[in-house]
Amino acid sequence: MKEIEVRTRIVLKQEEELSDKEKQLLEAAKEATKNSYAPYSHFHVGAAVLLDNGEIMSGSNQENCAYPSGLCAERTTVFYANSLHPDTPINILCVCARDSSGDFTSRPCPPCGACRQVLVETEQRFGKPMRVLLYGKEGTYCLDSAADLLPLSFDSDFL
Ligand code: THU
Repeated sequence: MKEIEVRTRIVLKQEEELSDKEKQLLEAAKEATKNSYAPYSHFHVGAAVLLDNGEIMSGSNQENCAYPSGLCAERTTVFYANSLHPDTPINILCVCARDSSGDFTSRPCPPCGACRQVLVETEQRFGKPMRVLLYGKEGTYCLDSAADLLPLSFDSDFL
């Protein structure tokens, strides 16, 4: 028998410990929650990406009465960025959410499984890690790579 251990490194930072660029990205993600269309869940998620060219783009979750037709903030934002800048890597993704109270969640908001799959392929596509910042009022989880969110991920090498 052989045992394989998978480890993920998460750094928990308070807002004042973020760099100026990270703070700017977090502000953009917070602002994006205001454009969320979430009449069913009342869970307003915002995401923002920092591109290699310095540009910040943001997006939010967009729901639909046929529930699976909606899309999470992370995929809305990453697909939007990749659609406009197909050759520009994403350096950092930042995510935050406001719940039905209107306040930001205490715990950092983690991406769903489908988003993780997309995030992993996004960084593979550009051949460089995408840092991930997950904001909550109690702190921000900082990960060095989207791959840290999804060990044993399925990738195109299997096809
Ligand atoms: N949602 C996101 O946009 N991102 C996440 O990380 C988790 C969930 C959205 C999907 C749906 O619109 C609402 O939050 C409730 O699941």
